[in-house]
Formats: sequence, C-alpha cells, structure tokens
Amino acid sequence: MNTDAHRIRVLKPLVHLASLAPLAWLFWLGAQGQFGPNPAEFINRYSGDWAIRFLLIALAVTPLRGLTGWAGAMRFRRMLGLYAFFYALLHVASYVALDQYFAWGAIWQDILKRNYITVGMLALVILTALAVTSPKAMVKKLGGRNWTRLHKLVYVAAIAAPVHFFMMRKGFQIEPLIYGGIAGALLAYRAAARLRVHFRVRAAASAASEEAGAKAA
Ligand code: HEM
Repeated sequence: MNTDAHRIRVLKPLVHLASLAPLAWLFWLGAQGQFGPNPAEFINRYSGDWAIRFLLIALAVTPLRGLTGWAGAMRFRRMLGLYAFFYALLHVASYVALDQYFAWGAIWQDILKRNYITVGMLALVILTALAVTSPKAMVKKLGGRNWTRLHKLVYVAAIAAPVHFFMMRKGFQIEPLIYGGIAGALLAYRAAARLRVHFRVRAAASAASEEAGAKAA
C-alpha cells in the first residue's frame, strides 16, 4: 500500500472520532445535568454551533489541498460535509421537538415570518440537497457538470448559516461575524483560484496562437 493510501486509512477513523466528539460531549453534559436552566435552548445552540463549524471545516478542505499540495485531503471533504448536515439535522430536530413540540402550524409560521428562521431553512434545504446527492452514484446520475453546479450551492449555505446566526442574536455580536469572515475568506480563496486558472488558460491560448502565427509567417 502506498504511503498516501495508508495515511488516509489511519486518518479516517480519527476524523470520525473527532467529528463525533461534540456529540459524545453533549451526551456527557446531559448525563451530568449540565444543560443549564434551558436545556432545549442549550442543545439547539450547541448543535447549531457545530453545524456551522463543520460546514466551514468541510469548505476549508479544498484550500488546504491547494496550500499543502496534499490531494488526499479531498477524501475527507464529503465526510466532513455529511457531519455538518448531521449536526444541522440535530439542531433543527431539537427546535422542532424541544422548542416547538411538533406544532407544525407554528413552525410553518416561524419559517414564513421570522427572517432568521427563513434563512436557516434555506441553509438546511441546501445541505439536504448536497447530502442526498453526495454519493458517487449520484454524480453519475446527475452528470459531472450538473453535480458540480449543484454543489456550488454550498457557498450559499456557508453565507446563509452565519447570516442566520447574526440575525438571531440581538445587537452587535462578534461570533457570527467571525464565522461570516471565515466563510468570506474561503469564498475569496476559491474565487482567486478560479481567476488564476482563467488567466493561465487565456495566456496559454494566446501563446499558442502567437506561435501558430509565427510558424505561418
Ligand atoms: C430549518 C432550519 C433551521 C431552523 C428552524 C433553525 C432554528 C434556530 C433557532 C431556533 C436558533 C436559536 C434561537 C435562540 O436560541 O433564540 C438557532 C440558532 C442557530 N442556528 Fe439555526 N436553524 C436552522 C438551520 C440552521 C443551519 C442549517 C445552521 C448551520 C449550518 C444553523 C446554525 C445556527 C447557529 C450557529 C445558531 C446560533 C447558536 C448560538 O447561539 O450559539 N441553523 N437556529
């Protein structure tokens, strides 16, 4: 086995363990009765925080590959994205079950009337679409181009999640701004990488046409 495949095999269970640690910690806090005076709010906020963190971590994988040159990093992107979806589901489930007691009418009114819930819903719908289409078989089914186009929506989710957080808090809050700043930096990295490729392709095309012109002359 080559060293890269070995590294990935060793790292995968460790990444799973690290990704499940926040869940284990939540159970531990619950067992110790440490959810504070409002357990529903505690679980909701805790899971929301981890959903946004995993979303940003998953988005950081491509820049990490670009900066380190380690292509194996890409083998962790789907896994980390699915953990973001998992914590987002936990977050929304806690809202539906512990905050709203499955009052679907009130939940629907919340989605329509409270802007921060509308934005959260947008992020969740996107994460759901990305999770459902994440298996390799779906890439084949949708076609590589369509799949890539759909998965670009992750950037909309990465912006919507901190906006949802920012709108939910009253007054000036630094935490959602930090998440928003990280999402913005990751987006800027992608945009810069695309521009670099664009200019490289243009430069190569013009060099080729100059060479062809010189040969013809
Ligand atoms: C239908 C979708 C969603 C609903 C109904 C929803 C609902 C909520 C609610 C009720 C709160 C807490 C409000 C409070 O305590 O006063 C909240 C906070 C939050 N949500 Fe969501 N949310 C949704 C989607 C998402 C998604 C997809 C993410 C992340 C990817 C997310 C991340 C957060 C974060 C980070 C917070 C703040 C946690 C904190 O205060 O530390 N939410 N959301």
